Amino acid sequence: MQETGRGTETAAERAVPRSVAVLGLGNMGTALADALLTAGHRVTVWNRTAARTAGPAERGAAVAATVEAAAEAADLVIVCVRDYPAVGELLDRAGPALEGRTVLNVTNGSPAEGRSMAGRAAALGAGYLDCGVMAVPAMIGSPEALLLCSGSEAAYASWRDVLGALGRGSYLGEDPGLAPLADLALLTGMYGMLGGFLHAAALVRSAGASVGEFTTDQLVPWLRAIAGILPGMAAQVDSGDYTATGSDLAMQVSHDAIGDVSRAQGVGTELFDPLLGLMRRRVADGHGNEDLAGVVELLHRR
Ligand SMILES: NC(=O)c1ccc[n+]([C@@H]2O[C@H](COP(=O)([O-])OP(=O)(O)OC[C@H]3O[C@@H](n4cnc5c(N)ncnc54)[C@H](OP(=O)(O)O)[C@@H]3O)[C@@H](O)[C@H]2O)c1
Repeated sequence: MQETGRGTETAAERAVPRSVAVLGLGNMGTALADALLTAGHRVTVWNRTAARTAGPAERGAAVAATVEAAAEAADLVIVCVRDYPAVGELLDRAGPALEGRTVLNVTNGSPAEGRSMAGRAAALGAGYLDCGVMAVPAMIGSPEALLLCSGSEAAYASWRDVLGALGRGSYLGEDPGLAPLADLALLTGMYGMLGGFLHAAALVRSAGASVGEFTTDQLVPWLRAIAGILPGMAAQVDSGDYTATGSDLAMQVSHDAIGDVSRAQGVGTELFDPLLGLMRRRVADGHGNEDLAGVVELLHRR
């Protein structure tokens, strides 16, 4: 995995202005165009609803009247629209103007859609990178914005300085479907953590305590500490050796303290029950002496 980002690229790399088109000026596209302008790149914008080009134009962007003209004006064509059918429409409209260009598609979609769009770009003679933007628009241009890219490695190497102006780039591999998959995997991890927060907050509130104080003083430091065990769990998933290292599954499911106390407090257990069910199934299957990581075998057969 290669990484690049603000603060890691050289001053010389930062200083070279490149020609970039941004197709789609919704909240994310506008943030991308603004960050590129701030970094000194030559930016051409196009949006289906022309009125949205006014802001970037005032900040120094050239406005293209057509998708084709935007593609002709740039070497890198960033596409940031609602969905992949819209991306496909724009590639068709740009047509031969994309020849020799690189398409950087930051629109959210599935791995299959990413692969299909790479094929359509290749048929037009364009390089293709799929990119999952792990950020909200306000984070664009900061190192906290993570840009997961997959597709042409040569294109990534050629455009890493521009990606560095948008956030911290991370190259995952030649398969264009890798970035959309990683994007969704990160969101899955995020929702798991946020679901845990919601259950914890309900439990604390049911006891009349301050959720704010609990979160700041106890939950956030606890979750930071627990995040430290994830690489060890990941190594177990990679190797398939789930031998318990301290807290085996049989012990963890021996009684449902979280469920019992939650119910007694009038707190719903809908978020925790599915995980507990899987842990119990794994024990019933004869793996009580293993660590929690073994539950992954119930979600995906190796
Ligand atoms: N906002 C975020 O926090 C965020 C974070 C990560 C990734 N993303 C992804 O970035 C993409 C854009 O998000 P956004 O927040 O910028 O959305 P948005 O504010 O709703 O803007 C949508 C954009 O798509 C354009 N569009 C929709 N259908 C189109 C079509 N058929 N042809 C041409 N243009 C079309 C819209 O043009 P009009 O102005 O003409 O309607 C507008 O420019 C999405 O795939 C989203 O999942 C967003």
